[in-house]
Amino acid sequence: MNKGELLYEGKAKRLYTSDKKEELIAEFKDDLTAFNAQKKSQEVGKGGLNCLISTHLFGLLEKAGIKTHLIEKIDETHQRVKRVEIIPIEVIVRNIATGSLSRRLGIQDGLVLPFTLVEFCYKSDELDDPIICDQHGLIMKLATQNEMDTLKALAREINEVLRPFFAQRRLNLVDFKVEFGRGENGEILLADEISPDSCRFWDMDSGEKLDKDRFRQDLGGVKVAYEEVLKRIEGAIL
Ligand code: TYD
Repeated sequence: MNKGELLYEGKAKRLYTSDKKEELIAEFKDDLTAFNAQKKSQEVGKGGLNCLISTHLFGLLEKAGIKTHLIEKIDETHQRVKRVEIIPIEVIVRNIATGSLSRRLGIQDGLVLPFTLVEFCYKSDELDDPIICDQHGLIMKLATQNEMDTLKALAREINEVLRPFFAQRRLNLVDFKVEFGRGENGEILLADEISPDSCRFWDMDSGEKLDKDRFRQDLGGVKVAYEEVLKRIEGAIL
């Protein structure tokens, strides 16, 4: 696959140059982190599961007309992706209240929101990814108003594809985080990953959590839960 120089190492992925200037190679790691990396662990096979899950979901979104940075899955833990300039805004989409939304505002955990909520957080480990509004984004020159409007519209479109897809598989898509990048000519592409590291999935029948909350909350069975999400994505409803 001609993996070149290590360009960037994040909490869950490494990015390498490739033999083409406009393409990079992403490697999914087995590392698990939570609470801005204050809690760390490893789960052998997690990187491979997330690589498969994210490849599948990006393919589904491409089919629905959403442009992504993904070119192809190379092997178990690697993807070939388009080089993009990441917009330093985490876009959080929520269908059901939990996590920081419930902690910050006292909204009942598990409340089905009357409409889908889209929030922006500034991607900054030093500042602990603070929540921001559009005006902060403009003042800090993170993105233009046009781009922020596009991020919100795309985030809602992604939810409109993924929420029913998971519902058919008896999983509630509670919330998720997506990141976007600027590609050639400033075109906005979905980047990073969509996996149980960056989404919350609750089993519709048992209420069981099948995502990184198993690690955050020390519930155990992280890998089994991620394997279950993959099985459901591949169509086998247990
Ligand atoms: P949120 O409830 O804000 O985070 P937490 O309770 O972990 O503080 O998270 C909403 C969703 O977005 C959840 O599925 C996890 C995901 N997310 C990330 O993947 N990375 C992040 O840095 C953040 C803030 C959220």
